[in-house]
Amino acid sequence: MLRYLTAGESHGKGLLAIIEGIPSNLSLSKEDIDKELKRRQRGYGRGGRMKIEKDKAEVLSGVRFGKTLGGPIGLLIENKDWGKWKDVLTSPRPGHADLAGEIKYNFDDLRNVLERASARETATRVAVGAICKKFLKEFNIDFYSRVIQIGPIADKRKWHPEKDFSSIEKSPLRCLKKGVEKRMKLLIDKAKKEGDSLGGIFEVVALNLPIGLGSYIQSDLRLDGRLAQALMSVPGIKGVEIGSGFASASKFGSDVQDEIFYQKEKKFYRKTNRAGGLEGGMTNGEPLILRAAMKPISTLRKPLHSVDLISKKSTLASKERADVCAVPAAAVIGEAVVTFEIAKVFREKFGGDSLKEIKRNYESYQKYVREK
Ligand SMILES: Cc1cc2nc3c(=O)[nH]c(=O)nc-3n(C[C@H](O)[C@H](O)[C@H](O)COP(=O)(O)O)c2cc1C
Repeated sequence: MLRYLTAGESHGKGLLAIIEGIPSNLSLSKEDIDKELKRRQRGYGRGGRMKIEKDKAEVLSGVRFGKTLGGPIGLLIENKDWGKWKDVLTSPRPGHADLAGEIKYNFDDLRNVLERASARETATRVAVGAICKKFLKEFNIDFYSRVIQIGPIADKRKWHPEKDFSSIEKSPLRCLKKGVEKRMKLLIDKAKKEGDSLGGIFEVVALNLPIGLGSYIQSDLRLDGRLAQALMSVPGIKGVEIGSGFASASKFGSDVQDEIFYQKEKKFYRKTNRAGGLEGGMTNGEPLILRAAMKPISTLRKPLHSVDLISKKSTLASKERADVCAVPAAAVIGEAVVTFEIAKVFREKFGGDSLKEIKRNYESYQKYVREK
């Protein structure tokens, strides 16, 4: 069983994660984690906080001489910006956990809510995803992400993740087309100038997944549902799409399903992948294609109407330092949470305590699939 738990506040001393279920003897270095943390911090439209934080993970347990021990891996990411949370906040921000959290937990200072509800927590999820990525790389499984829309400006053309990866990594908006990127940047500049914010859509792709991860036999085992939950749990995400998703609702069935073919060398195969690699809650051997829509950032420099918690008088929402647009960072976080879910179903299917044992189980299953 693969699982993790995180702890920490946005301006507390640091963020913690414990991940359990990574097999023994996996090579793992601090750099494997730090490089993913760095990817999360990039992106045109981020606020001042990302200039302060240079996230790095300290591996506290579970790794010895560069190899995992099979026990829980403990991680610490320090907050450079810590200790600055002494002010009392009483004007809840629309679009945040502020008001409902204050009522639910019976506080009179919104900081008690927003410190934990903050998307800063996603740094730990990226660190956990980095470890899972290293694990799944042992099986040639790769994960990619890119931004396909900022506000109304879209770049939805087909891509080749392996080929396009390096140019996406170089783009400050994780965008493929230079001309579109330029227009997106201008729009972010405009939003910033006007004290406003922007959202968008990103795509996550996983390649080389074996057939049969997840299951149809029980609703909570369906991988489509688990991946949607993982993506929806990222702060600000308001919609998830698998394959041709929403567009398929307006088409005839013959334009949506992926017909099945067979060749001796290729075995069963498809000429299309509108299902996005998932059928019946299981991987079908095609690339996994997921999209998520992020709403515009809730905290605005041009603050929104609110009500003071104590006086109940009309006021303006608190103006925490905020990003104008965080879709590129959300794409990296999306990649991480999807990687974790895939690692989890992978462990469920192939079991084992050591990497060698899992490889043995995986190879024997793949041999069986090849003989089909
Ligand atoms: C990477 C990332 C950065 C974010 N940065 C901010 C920010 O600077 N200011 C803000 O108000 N919301 C930010 N958000 C979004 C909020 O965290 C989110 O809207 C809020 O927690 C409420 O959750 P909900 O929108 O899912 O309901 C960010 C989200 C992500 C994923």
